[in-house]
Amino acid sequence: MNGKYKALWLNEEDNLVVLDQRVLPFVEKTITITNTDECVEAIKNMTVRGAGVIGNTAAFGVFLASCECDGDLKLLEEKAKLIRSSRPTAVNLMWAVDRMMEVARVIKKDKMQERLKQEAIKICDEDCKATEKIANFGADIFEEIMKKNGKKEINVLTHCNAGWLAIVDSGTALAPIYELQKRGIKVHVWVDETRPRNQGANLTAWELEKSGIDHTVIADNTGGHLMQHGLVDVCITGADRVSLGGDVANKIGTYLKALAAYDNNIPFYVALPSSTFDFKIIDGVKEINIEIRGEDEVKTIRGVDEKGQYKGLQIIPNNSKALNYGFDVTPSRLITGLITERGICKADIKNIQNMYGDIL
Ligand code: MRU
Repeated sequence: MNGKYKALWLNEEDNLVVLDQRVLPFVEKTITITNTDECVEAIKNMTVRGAGVIGNTAAFGVFLASCECDGDLKLLEEKAKLIRSSRPTAVNLMWAVDRMMEVARVIKKDKMQERLKQEAIKICDEDCKATEKIANFGADIFEEIMKKNGKKEINVLTHCNAGWLAIVDSGTALAPIYELQKRGIKVHVWVDETRPRNQGANLTAWELEKSGIDHTVIADNTGGHLMQHGLVDVCITGADRVSLGGDVANKIGTYLKALAAYDNNIPFYVALPSSTFDFKIIDGVKEINIEIRGEDEVKTIRGVDEKGQYKGLQIIPNNSKALNYGFDVTPSRLITGLITERGICKADIKNIQNMYGDIL
């Protein structure tokens, strides 16, 4: 792909250009990241978000940091540490920075910048390939579910955004949906709005609309009702960190959807590239660090007014407190299968160990 992906790309000056995901779908604009501080800020303020794209941005961030360090490895380590700690939950961030630094530590000073640029590109290219494989494995299983249900169309429910805005270049949860469209299969997507930041309503709906995929945005509390009435054939989400035990950290609210799916006997799949596993931990509920973001995201809602003006509005009383957990953990027992670039496996330690025996 040569450093060019749909959600981010290197420009002629080797700076990183990213789509500004804070203002989609109302404003389509880009932000150019030229140094470490801008990279950290873009990840923190969620100009870029989604586990994979955070990792990709961080990888290019380490490359940009190397351009500020003139071969000074100690300085680069400090800058990499800043990037690594810009958000706590999505493990692709730490994974990408660690991989970049492993390269930086063994390369000669004068080769460092070019080598790090190539490694960042390699990380992105690997993600692209992984999403292609996930697309096919997922679409195959979705076709099976459709046949088993005796239907000619499949209704899929998804939470948050796990499309190409979240992982280059087809996404994880949305990859099988794009693949079904290519195969000429009728697919309809229930899109959870995903409060408080509305990644579903703003980003997933935007991606699906752009691709001409039939979809309906629903309030976050609607999924259970739809499932009880046979309107959901399968649920699929992405992941921010998956433990060796198969527990999945993903956008807040994922757990409740998995519970409802379990209660209604509806398959609940999680799609992820291998870089989203955290093999060092087993119990995701106890061990995954869950981000707590600012109260403002809960207290307000952003959108366009009748004049097309993009703005935020307060939606709770002045003196009410708000609490904003960014993610929750869905226990492995509620997950039907993990769709990875290596294939589909059960979300448990034995099956994950079997699939990843070569790197564990
Ligand atoms: O807070 P965000 O928008 O970065 O959270 C994103 C999600 O939770 C996605 O569902 C997740 O990253 C999976 S897609 C790679």
